[in-house]
Amino acid sequence: EEENVGNTKRQLAKLFEVSLRRIVPDEPDVEPVIAACTGKFGDYQCNNAMGLWSKVKGKGSEFRGPPSVGQAIMKNLPGSEIIESCSVAGPGFVNVVLSKKWLAKVSQYETLPKYLYYIVFVILNFLVFGSLALKITFDFGWGTSVSSWSNTLACTRNALTLWSIQKMLTDGIDKWAPQLPIKRAVVDFSSPNIAKEMHVGHLRSTIIGDTLARILEFSNVEVLRRNHVGDWGTQFGMLIEFLFEKFPNIEDVNETAIGDLQAFYKSSKQRFDDDPAFKERAQRAVVSLQGGEPRYRNAWLKICEISRKEFHKVYERLGVHLEEKGESFYNPYIPGVLKELSDKGLIEDSQGARVIFLEGFNIPLIVVKSDGGFNYASTDLAALWYRLNEEKADWIIYVTDVGQQQHFNMFFEAAKRAGWLPTDGALKPKVTHVGFGLVLGEDGKRFRTRSSEVVRLVDLLDEAKDRSKKVLVERGWTEQELNQIAEAVGYGAVKYADLKNNRLTNYTFDFDQMLSDKGNTAVYLLYAHARICSIIRKSGKNIEELKKTGEIVLDHDGERELGLHLLQFSENVEETCTNLLPNVLCEYLYNLSEVFTKKFYSNCQVVGSPEETSRLLLCEATAIVMRKCFNLLGIEPVYKI
Ligand code: ARG
Repeated sequence: EEENVGNTKRQLAKLFEVSLRRIVPDEPDVEPVIAACTGKFGDYQCNNAMGLWSKVKGKGSEFRGPPSVGQAIMKNLPGSEIIESCSVAGPGFVNVVLSKKWLAKVSQYETLPKYLYYIVFVILNFLVFGSLALKITFDFGWGTSVSSWSNTLACTRNALTLWSIQKMLTDGIDKWAPQLPIKRAVVDFSSPNIAKEMHVGHLRSTIIGDTLARILEFSNVEVLRRNHVGDWGTQFGMLIEFLFEKFPNIEDVNETAIGDLQAFYKSSKQRFDDDPAFKERAQRAVVSLQGGEPRYRNAWLKICEISRKEFHKVYERLGVHLEEKGESFYNPYIPGVLKELSDKGLIEDSQGARVIFLEGFNIPLIVVKSDGGFNYASTDLAALWYRLNEEKADWIIYVTDVGQQQHFNMFFEAAKRAGWLPTDGALKPKVTHVGFGLVLGEDGKRFRTRSSEVVRLVDLLDEAKDRSKKVLVERGWTEQELNQIAEAVGYGAVKYADLKNNRLTNYTFDFDQMLSDKGNTAVYLLYAHARICSIIRKSGKNIEELKKTGEIVLDHDGERELGLHLLQFSENVEETCTNLLPNVLCEYLYNLSEVFTKKFYSNCQVVGSPEETSRLLLCEATAIVMRKCFNLLGIEPVYKI
């Protein structure tokens, strides 16, 4: 079986888990917290001691403080070929130096053909050059018997980094994709409501959901990207009736005739509230629509069609692909699903409605309203049933604002009671609500326009593009290049400003800040990438040739640090995936660009140095990893600035 080079962290976590179970058997929920570190004491660190101490202190445990917990964690680690040595530092951090032997195994496995090639090379050189060959052999790290222990370790560690990066350069970055125990996932995201404008809240769902889908796809999960649009419900009675009033001939209806759908929605609502006769007609229209009367169904289809076109424009600009399966799609499944739940004794009558009472919630989950209609929850139950049984998804992810958390928790709980989801600790199938916070304006309140209207997404994107165009104009681009780059930079900036924050926190929408070329912004990162590309271009070397023939050497500290950081790409993607936190990937990307600039590029001359080939390859590897990060974040890279 092929070793996954990015799995070091996960393998370490397994070992620490054993140790934790041994020292605190009564705390089975304590998970190992492992972090990569760049200090001189180790390659990775286990950070559980302090947290564990606060759990066990005062409970008559044998520990005397975080450092002694750290010691215990270290002493109870099972023997493993991964770890060379451990030490406890500060308040109980357990530092791990990776084992030379284990690394050697990985690098040996990875390099078998080259290894053979080297033996031949060395023998030949021995015959021809004698002592020179000895020096090459030693430099390469085989001087185990002569060199000091740590020196050898350093050599082998470099060898791992070197071979793995080399392998990525020749075989492509897909080699570094994490492996997840998931076959098929549904990502339910964006999901705006028909006849209402997409607003900045839907922007968050669209951006976050798209990134999660991309990362899962990269990790070889089959992803069903689902747009759960609100295309069903009582508001359609009102819209259809209003449509009939405005357009006695349905053939006249098109997007130019209707104009702004949001305005259309508003006026029909006005009409609904003002005129009782209209209201009554609207309520009857709902019944006709649900009964499948063609005239009503056609009107409904028209409204959906126009709305869909509007949404599509935004998706196209953002480069987001989605498949619409709106609420209406699941409507036919609701009666059967409710019958199943009812047969299982879950559903009760309550004040004329049909509800599910759930432990831990102060309100019941209403599944049939008192007027006999279905609602958001009944639709979601049917959709979940469909996704589990028809689509056979083993992970279903819902991306909405945190305000909907209770709704999700409730119907997840109902699904558990129905036996659809495991309650015995089994990991699959799994459902997750990915909540996110609000987008705030500069005044710290919900983001609105000056006239306190909901901000329209298209306007936002226009402004982002125009603003970045203004800055770029001064750089002397052709009109066509300018447009393309202004979009890459402008839309990239909007996406990155959203993704770089922990999604649960609110964030302030600030054009000046997100379009700044300094600090942790897309603009800064896109420029950093373009600069790396220009280093390679200006060297005049054919990088594709160098990939085949050149060797990476990581002698300088800056080179080694960059190499290790590149290798940690995979575990960062994995963490982003398992916790569904895109900000983890953003942070990795930002740090990569910092390590490149501050540790590597400012200390290691590239073009014209004796190490030129190796360093150009490191530049190329950095550019490839950055581009993959951009790709996973839905950001279009630029190659020139
Ligand atoms: N249409 C809903 C809204 O705009 C979001 C739907 C989310 N998906 C779901 N399966 N409930 O708030």
